[in-house]
Amino acid sequence: MTTIQFPDNIKWGAATASYQIEGAASEGGRKPSIWDVFSHTPGKVRRGDHGDEACDSYHRYKEDVQYLKELGVDMYRFSIAWPRVIPNGTGELNPEGVQYYRNLINELIENDIEPMITLYHWDLPQALQEKGGWESRETIDAFEAYAKAMFEEFGDVVSKWITINEPWCASFLSNYLGIHAPGKTSLQAGVDVSHHLLVAHGRAVKVFRDVVPNGEIGYAPNVGWMEPYTDRQEDIDACKRAMMWQKEWFMDPVFKGSYPEELVQLFKKEGADLKLVDGDLELISQPIEFMGINYYTGSLGRYKEGEGLFEAEEIPLDNRRTDIGWPIYADGFYRVLKDLNETYGDVPIYITENGACYNHEEKDGEVNDKERIDYLKQHLASISRVVEAGVPIKGYLVWSLLDNFEWAFGYEMRFGIIHVNFRTFERTPKDSFYWYKQTITNGWFEV
Ligand code: FCB
Repeated sequence: MTTIQFPDNIKWGAATASYQIEGAASEGGRKPSIWDVFSHTPGKVRRGDHGDEACDSYHRYKEDVQYLKELGVDMYRFSIAWPRVIPNGTGELNPEGVQYYRNLINELIENDIEPMITLYHWDLPQALQEKGGWESRETIDAFEAYAKAMFEEFGDVVSKWITINEPWCASFLSNYLGIHAPGKTSLQAGVDVSHHLLVAHGRAVKVFRDVVPNGEIGYAPNVGWMEPYTDRQEDIDACKRAMMWQKEWFMDPVFKGSYPEELVQLFKKEGADLKLVDGDLELISQPIEFMGINYYTGSLGRYKEGEGLFEAEEIPLDNRRTDIGWPIYADGFYRVLKDLNETYGDVPIYITENGACYNHEEKDGEVNDKERIDYLKQHLASISRVVEAGVPIKGYLVWSLLDNFEWAFGYEMRFGIIHVNFRTFERTPKDSFYWYKQTITNGWFEV
């Protein structure tokens, strides 16, 4: 047996997002988001699933906080639904919506759990989409006003904030690949949205400094890892290009104040221009306290002429995939974190999401999800390695506390360490919940 050990000061947590768990879609003054509209459009989400009720956490948040307490986490990352607090995207605050989050925050604090708030986890108010959504720079102004209002409401009791969750998904997956709301398929839209999200991030950071001077703010890009199949230069270059789309495109502007020129040119060749306005890069590159990293999957890759935008072919070496079909590559987690540290320096990192999809059902009040425990062990071992290698990892937040609405996959794909029965909303902690609890208590586990 080997013991995998973590430093005492690492923060443990769990994460969720508003549209995926809250439900109560038309209660308390909430108006539709782009995800309400998208999920109610036939053919967009598997089985026609939508977030109208989700996990009903809007009504059951106290029960959920009790599970967090039992789990023993230091932190809980959740997101605010913009259309719950500012239903039209701009204008008056909706007091009932604000009260919901105030209640949740108070409940967390009373139970010794530190809140970490994500401002944008993809539920853009539909009213803003109708005026152009993130393709329009007006949405940046609206986001700044929304962020400021939230900092003013909660900045006295909440110090950790995340501006944007997974800007790659909110831009390219949603506006170029068409898989997420609003479901567009234009590379120009993808590029515009990616840039506007980063400017919105910068504008929020700027306001944050005035309103919450002692707080900590960051964002949460998603990354994968593509390991070159051979050390041939063409394979190495292909993998670099493919990773650049998620990594450098969303990080160079923030940490270096520039976009990767190779990708700017590649997009241009495909007919999509990056449209910079004076001052954008200064805003985007303001210092932040931490980088949030979401990691799920990785693979090997090699050069293949004409393959996709980047001429990189993914090579699955075996069948080790989670139930959602994503290859398991725990070594990639170590590599990408090392790589980020080498490229951007000692920026403190929170693992804001990591976890696995396995669709085990509940039986006699138990859920035996050994595969999820194995996945967590492998990925936490990578964290332990990277900590030992000197990378400043501040915390690890598992995705997710609950099975929930997994976007275009609907409820079919389960990521929770707590099982949710989507008819009765009954919660059942899985074996992984108890394993994680034990790991948090001990600060180590054995393999
Ligand atoms: C990430 C999302 C999160 C969840 C996981 C599985 O891309 O941020 O909401 O759906 O994937």
